[in-house]
Amino acid sequence: MPARVTVPAVRDRKAAAGSPPLVMVTAYDAPTARLADAADVDLLLVGDSVAMVVLGYDDTLAVTVDDMAHHTAAVARTGPRALVVADLPWMSYHVSPEDTVRNAARLVRAGATAVKLEGGAKRVPMVRALVDAEIPVMGHLGLTPQSVHALGGFKVQGRQAAAADALVDDAAALVEAGAFALVLEAVPAALARRVTEAVPVPTIGIGAGPACDGQVLVLHDLLGLEDRVRPRFVRRYASLRADGTAAVAAFAADVRSGAFPAPEETYEPEVRRGPAAGLPA
Ligand code: KIV
Repeated sequence: MPARVTVPAVRDRKAAAGSPPLVMVTAYDAPTARLADAADVDLLLVGDSVAMVVLGYDDTLAVTVDDMAHHTAAVARTGPRALVVADLPWMSYHVSPEDTVRNAARLVRAGATAVKLEGGAKRVPMVRALVDAEIPVMGHLGLTPQSVHALGGFKVQGRQAAAADALVDDAAALVEAGAFALVLEAVPAALARRVTEAVPVPTIGIGAGPACDGQVLVLHDLLGLEDRVRPRFVRRYASLRADGTAAVAAFAADVRSGAFPAPEETYEPEVRRGPAAGLPA
């Protein structure tokens, strides 16, 4: 049984010369956790993208701590080798450090080893409080989906020099407060390289180019289960939505034609033996 991935092991990958990039994918339930863990990823992110990918919302703002705990528990129950990181949802870490720690503790009790939160220097008091409570924290900078209304949509961030400088400062502030890794989402590759070179913890990019210390994709995007929108940074490795629809259509056709179920898919009554049934015992 291979050893479980730990927070120090993830943090130390930054310093380990020649180690391969970290691989993180989202998982929202037991089947997706088992599937991704069997593929030997390093981290499973119970992302608040569950709102859009699984629960049918238009953005991530609708999910609650209860929702995240429910999905985190399903992922954790599978006992993955990969490190389980759970997203703190919108408004679970915006009110006070105390509130943040209480909400994060619910995710840890549900089975997360670490939590992720969005935003830069203004989150420092919350990051410090979490680290003080022994809860490892992953930061998330760039396109932070919980800020969709403030940002005016899901847009690439850090394209202007001032915004890029601010993002580098935010990264430094989060790391100084104790974050063990940073997600960089939808930022120019040169900016992600700058952050990666500036911080002593791993950066994990999504739409942030190849210089990051790791890469993350939403599982349903890479599997082609979610194919309604396709951001530029998504590479599809399968077409599960098309394959799934074709499979269900084949089932429907078999049912309608009478080809399903076949005798071998059907139970027969038990054959009673013995004198009462008129059969040899
Ligand atoms: O919720 C999520 O899926 C994420 C990834 C995009 C990093 O935060």
